Amino acid sequence: MSMDDLKRQAAARAVEQVRDGMKLGLGTGSTAKHFVELLGERVQAGLKVIGVPTSEATRADAERCGVPLTTLEEVDRLDLTVDGADEIDPNLELIKGGGGALLREKIVAAASDRMIVIADESKWVKTLGRFPLPIEVVPFGLGATRRAIEAAFAENNVSGQMDIRKAKDGHAFVTDGGHWIIDARLGQIPDSARLAVSLNSIPGVVEHGLFIGLARTAVLAGPEGIRVVE
Ligand code: 5RP
Repeated sequence: MSMDDLKRQAAARAVEQVRDGMKLGLGTGSTAKHFVELLGERVQAGLKVIGVPTSEATRADAERCGVPLTTLEEVDRLDLTVDGADEIDPNLELIKGGGGALLREKIVAAASDRMIVIADESKWVKTLGRFPLPIEVVPFGLGATRRAIEAAFAENNVSGQMDIRKAKDGHAFVTDGGHWIIDARLGQIPDSARLAVSLNSIPGVVEHGLFIGLARTAVLAGPEGIRVVE
């Protein structure tokens, strides 16, 4: 079975949690895209839901699949967000942002009563940090922001190379919010909750890919079947 089949299986399990009338957060990435497609099939069959997309890419997918959309101006809270992740640890702390949508993903997850993270088993790790940590930054004053991030890393006993993410054309990758992303290769993050707090206090950091206390359920698809962690 291919990795893509596993992602679709995880997405299919999450779709089973969707009920008529739900307001949904729609994640970003290849796994979340399966969720949007499967949700679209249920909408065509009569399910009534409304979704808030976490990226322009997901907005386009949802529109293509006929999933009605709204915004967090029009609705107060969401019932459920379903999103992928780059890493998931046993406390259901996550690294997200490999697709560059971490800011909207975190806003939407935080506005949701429940977040289900869907992934293939390769995303499951004992300790976060093997996947480079995405940090969304404002281009202005980047040198100062980098130095402040380095200081935050030192305080948290982590270190590693930091690279500005590049787009295919070789220029800096620009997020949907008009910001840049630093990918920090840390190897291991011993205390991700503490590092998250340190990064939150840096003015040039818009958001980072550590999702702490947001996911309640992980649906992991592997060759041996689906595993649900809560
Ligand atoms: C996008 C994300 C994605 O959820 C994450 O990168 C996982 O993507 P995929 O499902 O394609 O492996 O955080 O910002």
